[in-house]
Amino acid sequence: MSIPSPDFKIYETALRVGGLAAREAGAYILSESGAVSSDDIFVKGTHDLVSRVDHEAQRIITAHIAEAFPRHHILAEEGDDNVHIPGKGYTWIIDPLDGTTNFLHGVPPWAVSIALAYQGEPQMGIVFDVTRNELFTAAEGMGAFVNGQPCRVSDSSHLNDSLLSTGFPYRDFEHMDAYLSALGHFMKETRGVRRPGCASIDLAWVAAGRFDGFFESGLHPWDVAAGMVLVREAGGRLSNYEGGGDLTPLGGQIIASNGHIHDHMAHILQPVRNVLNPA
Ligand code: IPD
Ligand code: CA
Ligand code: CA
Repeated sequence: MSIPSPDFKIYETALRVGGLAAREAGAYILSESGAVSSDDIFVKGTHDLVSRVDHEAQRIITAHIAEAFPRHHILAEEGDDNVHIPGKGYTWIIDPLDGTTNFLHGVPPWAVSIALAYQGEPQMGIVFDVTRNELFTAAEGMGAFVNGQPCRVSDSSHLNDSLLSTGFPYRDFEHMDAYLSALGHFMKETRGVRRPGCASIDLAWVAAGRFDGFFESGLHPWDVAAGMVLVREAGGRLSNYEGGGDLTPLGGQIIASNGHIHDHMAHILQPVRNVLNPA
């Protein structure tokens, strides 16, 4: 997929404004950790929770962005139901609290995820791991960083030497059997499979070389947009379960890896893809 060429200077400002917004929202979220009552929790869908903390974190982030970039479009999770990323101009794609279920149960990780897309293509990404105080940043052509230090994907070339992460199905169970069969293969053929419960962190940890690969389906643009830039800029590879396919529209199914184990992962996930996207 070819990456459009915007005005690159904008990404330096965007990283600064987005980084400030992520840290301020993160500090707020941390201050509310353990203080959310059941009256503050709402059910959006099957096993899909939102709290007043998600909404307030989003207000903090969008206020920063609207002030610095009043002409940019904003797509944020806790907004309207219209998941639309315009093909023209700049769009901020925001998950104010990724890992809400973790947060509400007091189980890290959870994160703030902020991306900036140009002509529909994410080109700057920020993921802030609130409890570990780790800020992951990347922008097109500028590399990927953890708290300002450059990071790269891992170099393990075989599944046998790899640690993977995934997201379990939790609201759409049609592909459950195919998913469990693929998971069984990965359990036998890798060092282990983790389920952190926070897709932006799954991707950030692939970018940082902690996980060698990640796969999940049923994701939304705000779950993956920032993490995709991190993985790309850290030298990794991204695709859908077909392996060669692109990721537009953002979300759906995703494989993110260090590149070396990608085709093997896609091969194991092929039966899941056949259920999700029958010919
Ligand atoms: C969720 C997390 C989780 C993933 C779900 C997402 P939320 O985001 O990223 O890891 O499995 O698909 O919806 O709802 O906590 O923002
Ligand atoms: Ca999310
Ligand atoms: Ca969220």
